[in-house]
Amino acid sequence: MKTPRAFYQPLAIGAPMPLRELPVRVERMIHFVPPHLDKLRAKVPDLARQVDVVLGNLEDAIPADQKLAARRGFIEMAKATDFGDTGLWTRINALDSPWMLDDVVEIVGAIGDKLDVVMVPKVQGPWDIHYVDQLLAQLEAKGGVRKPILIHAILETAEGVKNVEAIATASPRMHGMSLGPADLAASRGMKTTRVGGGHPDYVVLADAAGDAPRAAFQQDLWHYTVAKMVDACMAAGIKPFYGPFGDFSDGAACEAQFRNAFLMGCVGAWSLHPSQIDIAKRVFSPRPEEVAMAKRILDAMPDGTGAVMIDGKMQDDATWKQAKVIVDLARQVAARDGETPHGL
Ligand code: GLV
Ligand code: MG
Repeated sequence: MKTPRAFYQPLAIGAPMPLRELPVRVERMIHFVPPHLDKLRAKVPDLARQVDVVLGNLEDAIPADQKLAARRGFIEMAKATDFGDTGLWTRINALDSPWMLDDVVEIVGAIGDKLDVVMVPKVQGPWDIHYVDQLLAQLEAKGGVRKPILIHAILETAEGVKNVEAIATASPRMHGMSLGPADLAASRGMKTTRVGGGHPDYVVLADAAGDAPRAAFQQDLWHYTVAKMVDACMAAGIKPFYGPFGDFSDGAACEAQFRNAFLMGCVGAWSLHPSQIDIAKRVFSPRPEEVAMAKRILDAMPDGTGAVMIDGKMQDDATWKQAKVIVDLARQVAARDGETPHGL
């Protein structure tokens, strides 16, 4: 393991200093764009005003014969668009693919100063992060990139889940992690054919009571992994995200899945379809009534210590800290949306 001082040294002479703190940014939805499609690329300037992050996808869902067009299209849209405060990310191809090296070399060479985050799929362990970390440093140095490009890992292999803590702490470049339920299901040998969400067969049955029909309660297939990812990320000071929800026709189920993730600590999710932008915005911005309650707790305990009763419920130092998470987020969201904070 590296010493603390070495951990924060640039990995190439001339590369920018690694960040000690992540920039404070609202990233409720990471919106995926397939950059090989001219029609969708043309919408990017408008999109950049609606979403928190625009991501040019080069990996899965891009046909093999369109990989180079997608890379070129991403560079073109990055050059042509003023993203303002909206994040610009790309999902590169997997490390074992024939495209990954040129994805990174060409993109950092062309638009390294505009790129905020590289999303790395199918991360198996910290060694994958070390490789991308070193490569980015070399390319930053070569191209004179001034701020470090961050790395976001997709948690989507059984081995990655086993190594999640080591991945989260592999580099000061780590921005966060997203659950990748589709690849993870395949890697684990789960018996599903979906992109995220629940499954009607994953249930517990109510106790038998004579011959009465028994209620079945669907459970969340992703609970364990999201919890494990949130703990690994928050312990490392990086950000956890839910990933994709593939059934675009079922907004209610998408919202429920996103909300579970939000309640458990995730800060955002992917939007793969325009209808999911508003869902993510709604879910990952705290509700005004929650914010108002949190504000009452903060006001009742100005120095954050002691215990008070509010509406018959005990509040103490620990609920004060929970309330602070919600109020801080409400302020950041309001600043991002250009509104006065709801509920404050
Ligand atoms: C995302 O990449 C997934 O595999 O779910
Ligand atoms: Mg995947």
